[in-house]
Amino acid sequence: MKLSVFANLGLLGLAASARGRDPEGHEYRRQPGSSRSPCPGLNAMANHGFLPRSGENIDLATLRAAVGDAYHYEPAAADGPFNEAMSFNLTTTGNSSTFNLADLAKHDAIEFDGSLSRNDFFLGDNLHFDPAIWGTVAKRLNLYKTGPAEKDKYVTVEAAAKARAARVKDAMRANRDFNASASQIQGSPGTTALYLTTLWDPKADAAPKAWIKAFFEEERIPYREGYSPQSEPQKTLFDIGALFQRVQAVKIDAC
Ligand code: HEM
Ligand SMILES: *[C@@H]1O[C@H](CO)[C@@H](O)[C@H](O)[C@H]1NC(C)=O
Ligand SMILES: *[C@@H]1O[C@H](CO)[C@@H](O)[C@H](O)[C@H]1NC(C)=O
Ligand SMILES: *[C@@H]1O[C@H](CO)[C@@H](O)[C@H](O)[C@H]1NC(C)=O
Repeated sequence: MKLSVFANLGLLGLAASARGRDPEGHEYRRQPGSSRSPCPGLNAMANHGFLPRSGENIDLATLRAAVGDAYHYEPAAADGPFNEAMSFNLTTTGNSSTFNLADLAKHDAIEFDGSLSRNDFFLGDNLHFDPAIWGTVAKRLNLYKTGPAEKDKYVTVEAAAKARAARVKDAMRANRDFNASASQIQGSPGTTALYLTTLWDPKADAAPKAWIKAFFEEERIPYREGYSPQSEPQKTLFDIGALFQRVQAVKIDAC
């Protein structure tokens, strides 16, 4: 009996190490007092040191390198949002070519109402992860049910699209000042497409729940859960666009 207990522990240990660890020099570490944003994608890169851990003085060259090294995107994938941020004049660094992560919380610039994991500006904190808001989304994604079937481990495009639409409806009901513009509401399926593309498992044609959980709840890149973007082809703007189309094509029931 004893032997089999130890044998099992040994196997568990092997499985855990086979699933990967943080890359050398890019360990996950949350640094209290550092600048962070309403964007889990950027925060996770800062928590792993692909962006400055301070979250400060980020320029385009730094951002391009980070999205390539962290998520294996083509460098230009970052240019659109970077230029958008700059054109909103939201930077507080004193240098019009750089921004601090917290600058991105400026409401009605890139930040808008009805986010998946943040509250609306009018209702309080639009910058930090909000467990209650995310809880409503996680529930709709069935995020914590990861078995027994293989398919229980994944979030499909359909589930993600429906969860997003339901979250926006909730926000519109909860916030009498809800005022995401038409173009911001258009952009909302975009952030869903972005997390799916970033955390995509092409073999499953879906995104692993364990990766989504780490990404949103800990702002951690899920290497420990087997994420290995450099072993897949480089992701492009075209890939994001293709998933955006798929998210938009999901029929949402009126309610
Ligand atoms: C490939 C890298 C990126 C990924 C994976 C990513 C992912 C995401 C996701 C999933 C959200 C939605 C969060 C939510 O609804 O709770 C989001 C929001 C946001 N992202 Fe990113 N992002 C990336 C790059 C960027 C860049 C380069 C910028 C700007 C320089 C940016 C700025 C923002 C902002 C301001 C929000 C808040 C929008 C809102 O109010 O919901 N992101 N991002
Ligand atoms: C940002 O500043 C520039 C130059 O001062 C100005 O032309 C532009 O209208 C400003 N943009 C916003 C969104 O305020
Ligand atoms: C502003 O930032 C850019 C990009 O990092 C840098 O090249 C430039 O030297 C900075 N300007 C000043 C005045 O520090
Ligand atoms: C939303 O409301 C804020 C003030 O609460 C205002 O500054 C902003 O212009 C409004 N945005 C839209 C898209 O109507």
